[in-house]
Amino acid sequence: MAVRNILGIGAGYVGGPTMAVMAARCPDLRIEVADIDEERVRAWQSGRPPIYEPGLDEVLRRGLGRNLSFTSDLPAAIRRAEMIFVSVNTPTKVFGQGMGMAADLQHWEATARTIRAHAPGPRIVVEKSTVPVRTAEAMDQILNEEGTRRFEVLSNPEFLAEGTAIRDLEEPDRVLIGSAETPAGQAAAAELVDIYARWVPRERILTMNVWSSELSKLAANAFLAQRVSSINAIAELCEISGARIGEVARAVGMDRRIGPRFLEAGVGFGGSCFRKDVLNLVYLCRHSGLTEAADYWHSVVRFNDHHQARFAAGIVSQMFNTLVGKRIALFGFAFKADTGDTRDSPAIRIARALVEERARLVITDPQALENARRELADLADRIEFTDDPCEAARGAHAIVVVTGWRQFAELDYGRILATMERPAFLFDGRNLLDAERMFSLGFNVVPIGSPPRLHFE
Ligand code: UDX
Repeated sequence: MAVRNILGIGAGYVGGPTMAVMAARCPDLRIEVADIDEERVRAWQSGRPPIYEPGLDEVLRRGLGRNLSFTSDLPAAIRRAEMIFVSVNTPTKVFGQGMGMAADLQHWEATARTIRAHAPGPRIVVEKSTVPVRTAEAMDQILNEEGTRRFEVLSNPEFLAEGTAIRDLEEPDRVLIGSAETPAGQAAAAELVDIYARWVPRERILTMNVWSSELSKLAANAFLAQRVSSINAIAELCEISGARIGEVARAVGMDRRIGPRFLEAGVGFGGSCFRKDVLNLVYLCRHSGLTEAADYWHSVVRFNDHHQARFAAGIVSQMFNTLVGKRIALFGFAFKADTGDTRDSPAIRIARALVEERARLVITDPQALENARRELADLADRIEFTDDPCEAARGAHAIVVVTGWRQFAELDYGRILATMERPAFLFDGRNLLDAERMFSLGFNVVPIGSPPRLHFE
């Protein structure tokens, strides 16, 4: 019998948008989303989601009151569901074995136990959170511990990127469905294929074994993170050699085998996935005795750490080796534009380094101020926050662009400069602004991946 009632557990950046798009694309399915955080549930249910994601509000409203609802009563929702998607967070462990590397699976396991306790009959459990390889197998063992096989565990990793989540969900490059290589496993996979096939072309839906599916997700993110570290490594060389990163990236990206996307040099990667997933891969390799493979992937993260520290150090050295008492405006705190998410944002490290140098920091961001305040709560008395970038720059010695928000590119920098201290610096960590134009306005411009433009030697 075809699945009709679906439950998504976890209403975060992945679970919320994923279930909202599924509800919009499958009006005949009844979709519930459960989360333990009642406030978050209320926000989603009221049509004002707790996360910022372009296009989400509209998709959400289409589903609410029709076939989409949110609840904090997990046991009741489990009883009603035939297929259960799990999108709970799996952060990097901050304690014990594998600390700082391995994924913390406590929420996943607790969820599996709750499902086992409340599901009255056979269920399909779909692993959506990014997890270490072989997690599905462990979940299978927990869920089916009573002997009778009541649960099929599928791996269906999510590839959405924040800021473009709705488009990524509506038109995914591919959908992966990993299952046990048994008739029951394949039947469960077929049920999930049927759901996606309502809006995704069949040839983009790939079925495979669970381990391939789990590993493909880690591998894809590792390749992407590696690309960012690669272009940033070349950018460092550009800065001292007279080459320009924009020109090099264009030339490299025109090779069809390489392609032009994801070649923007900047302040390094951030976000909830890249560091976590690459470290997960490193842990997996090391644990399996593949030392060289582990070291290879580890260098992607190590380079990123170095690159961020180098950016902050460059601010100090350009500004005559002292920031004491200087007002510095941080333009952006989100880990990238079009999101309010600040998890592992390069801004965190940069802000802390500048405060350490005793700068007076002012942070502005169109979506991430609340998260920024939380992230830097321990420095509250040393940092100002404002949603007005012009206000942030008033009286400042430097502007540091950390997030590539389009709004920042549209400001009147001539007027801004008139309110700043001289000499005024612009550290453009995203190459968002035209360096030549900013230089001719009077800024001392320090871009990423091309030599600085200074009004003094
Ligand atoms: C990523 C993956 O893209 C997505 O498939 C996966 O499901 C989750 O992880 P996300 O973390 O939302 O998505 O952001 P993404 O757009 O991939 O950017 C990651 C980081 O790399 C950001 O900090 C971004 O600023 C940086 N980046 C990206 C660059 O510095 N240069 C680039 O060219 C691209």
